[in-house]
Amino acid sequence: MLVLVFPELEDIGRKVAEGLGSRFQVIYKKVFPDGESYVRIEANVEGEDIALVQTTYPEQDKRLLELLFAVDTLRNHGARSVEVILTYLAYARQDREFLPGEAVSVRTVLRLLSSTGVDVLYVVDLHKPDSLRYFAGQAKNIIPSKVFSNKLRSMGLKNPIVVSPDLGASHRAKALASELGCECFIIRKHRDRITGQIRHELPENIDVSGKEAVIVDDIISTGGTVANIASFLRRCGASAVFAVASHGLFVGEALRKLKDAGVDKVLTLNTLANRIDNDLIEYVDVSPELIAVLGEYSTP
Ligand code: R5P
Repeated sequence: MLVLVFPELEDIGRKVAEGLGSRFQVIYKKVFPDGESYVRIEANVEGEDIALVQTTYPEQDKRLLELLFAVDTLRNHGARSVEVILTYLAYARQDREFLPGEAVSVRTVLRLLSSTGVDVLYVVDLHKPDSLRYFAGQAKNIIPSKVFSNKLRSMGLKNPIVVSPDLGASHRAKALASELGCECFIIRKHRDRITGQIRHELPENIDVSGKEAVIVDDIISTGGTVANIASFLRRCGASAVFAVASHGLFVGEALRKLKDAGVDKVLTLNTLANRIDNDLIEYVDVSPELIAVLGEYSTP
C-alpha cells in the first residue's frame, strides 16, 4: 500500500504509513495567482492500493476540491484501489433539509467522493455516522475513544462521569465511558418556546457533585454548546469540567466562552489543518486510532 497525504497532514500521514509498514509520499499542490488549486501526484500509482489522507478544514471548499482532484488523478493513472481517510469531513452537520429547499450538503459531498472513484472511506468522528449511507462504497466512522481515554487516564481523573450534549451524540459518550469504565448520561435540554432560551436538567438518578465531568462532542465551533453545559454542570457541583471534542474549530470567541464557563481543559484531536496555541487546549494524536482501524479493515 502507498500512503499519500496532503502537506497539511504530513505528520499524520507519515505515522500512519510507518504504523502500516507502507510507503509514503506527500502530494504536491499549489495555488495559482487567480486562486485556482493545482495538485500533482508524483508517485507512479499504477496497480497500487492507495490510502489517501486529507482533512477538510480550514478551508472546506478548497480542501474538498483538492481531494477530488487527487482521487480523479489516481483513478486516471491506474491505481488499483483508493481508500480515503478523512480526519474531518466538512458539511457533515447539514445532513437533512431543516427548511424546505435546503441543500443536504453532506449528501452532495459524499456522492461526489463516490462518483470520483473512492472505493473505501474512513471518516474520523462524523457528526451523524448514518450520513455514510450517501457514500456508495464501503465506509467506516472512526470513534476516537481509545486515544481520548488514554489521555484522560494519564491525567489522573479520580471520579469521572461522561456527559453527552444530546441523544444524537450519545454513541460517543457511551464509547468513551465504556473505555474509562465510568458512568455516562445524556443531558436534558428544554427550550422555552417564547424566549427560545435553553434550560438544562440532569436525569433523575444522576449526581455530578464532586465528580469530574467530561463533556463529549464531535465539534467545538463557536463553543456555545459545550460552554452552556459546562456552566450548568459547575452549578450542579462538578469538581472539574473537561471538554472532549474530536474537531476543535474554535471559531471567534469560543475559547473565551469555554474558559468563562469553567472548562478546565479541552482535549481535541489533530484532525484539522490548523493548530491553535492556547493553555486551555491539549491536542491528542489521532494516528494510533487510524492505524488500528486501517490495519484491521484496509486492503492488505
Ligand atoms: C451539533 O449538533 C454538534 O454536534 C456540535 O454540538 C456543534 O456543532 C457545536 O457547535 P458550537 O460549538 O458552535 O456550539
